[in-house]
Amino acid sequence: MKKMMVLCLLLAAISLLNAGNGQSRITMKPFGETEDGKSVYLYSLQNSNGMKVDIMNYGCTVVRLFAPDRTGEMADVVLGFNTLEEYVEKSPYFGCIVGRYGNRIANGQFTLNGTLYKLATNNEPGGIPCHLHGGLKGFDKVVWDARPGFKKNNPQLELQYTSMDGEEGYPGTLYVTVCYRLTDSNELVIEYSATTDKSTPVNLTHHTYFNLHGEGNGHILDHILFMQAKNFTPVTRGLIPTGEIRPVKGTPFDFTKPNTIGKRINSDDQQIKFGGGYDHNWVLDKNEGLQRVATVYETYSGRYMEVWTTEPGLQFYSGNFLDGTLTGKSGKIYPHRSGLCLETQHFPDSPNQPSFPGTILNPGEVYKSTTVYCFSVK
Ligand code: GLA
Repeated sequence: MKKMMVLCLLLAAISLLNAGNGQSRITMKPFGETEDGKSVYLYSLQNSNGMKVDIMNYGCTVVRLFAPDRTGEMADVVLGFNTLEEYVEKSPYFGCIVGRYGNRIANGQFTLNGTLYKLATNNEPGGIPCHLHGGLKGFDKVVWDARPGFKKNNPQLELQYTSMDGEEGYPGTLYVTVCYRLTDSNELVIEYSATTDKSTPVNLTHHTYFNLHGEGNGHILDHILFMQAKNFTPVTRGLIPTGEIRPVKGTPFDFTKPNTIGKRINSDDQQIKFGGGYDHNWVLDKNEGLQRVATVYETYSGRYMEVWTTEPGLQFYSGNFLDGTLTGKSGKIYPHRSGLCLETQHFPDSPNQPSFPGTILNPGEVYKSTTVYCFSVK
């Protein structure tokens, strides 16, 4: 209660500070309590165009994101729930930040500086156990400390979490900061940084399921996807990269020219079969630095989303595990493939794949990563 009063005062102060900039603002409200008694809050960031994103500090989760269509009408374009309880009980990583290691690690283990580290095997695609998305209680299932504020009049929410040495089996205490910022160019900017006191693998990503029709309005198979990637990392039946970097040319994985997601998703391609659709890492054609790597276009509403990142890889997941058993925010069922994730990242299983770009963060180094989801219309 006391904490909440302090936060409310802080927000009031921030609104005053921001009085110069007409409409962009931040509000907050309680969003429930975790089993261990931690308060969770929902922060609404609004820019001066009226675009709004709601983020809660449980799992650093984007709960709602309203983007305009061609006529200016807003729709919530991300999958999610109305209550904290539903997120805790059954969320398939809706909208959260994933860590300490996003994506899969083979057999739930890796060796670093001569020591074997064993992690939870919390996933079993093709009947083959692996470690997924940071383990049993990854960064998506913890309460972060949130600090709302403004950067150049753009509302932002900075979230911090300290992951203890040995948490989920990973070495080293990791201090993580994630900052979400909503700009007046309708960009959701996500900035990640982290430091450690022992060498550890780190691979942070964001796991929003987008549906540019608006959440609950059918599937994403008609969305037109472009990815700046001439190669991808094929996987085994257990969805672990084989180590090969394979050209997409002539395969259903070629999105170097915009293509409809549904067009080749049911093809006989073995990789498609392993993923039950698209659930693979693309090797982005890029140098270091922030670059546009993907676009998604939905022709009916005109909504167009660009993805920019500093990361070398992009997991495109076509919502293959959604099976119609979850009901979302507006009371509508989320059927098979009714949301798509574009998870900017380092490649899966990098701690066991010496040929992939490194994911080990050492003491004294700073992990930095930026991803931008930018909304407009065509
Ligand atoms: C990632 C994985 C998928 C699936 C989802 C969560 O995108 O690659 O296989 O586990 O997360 O359901």
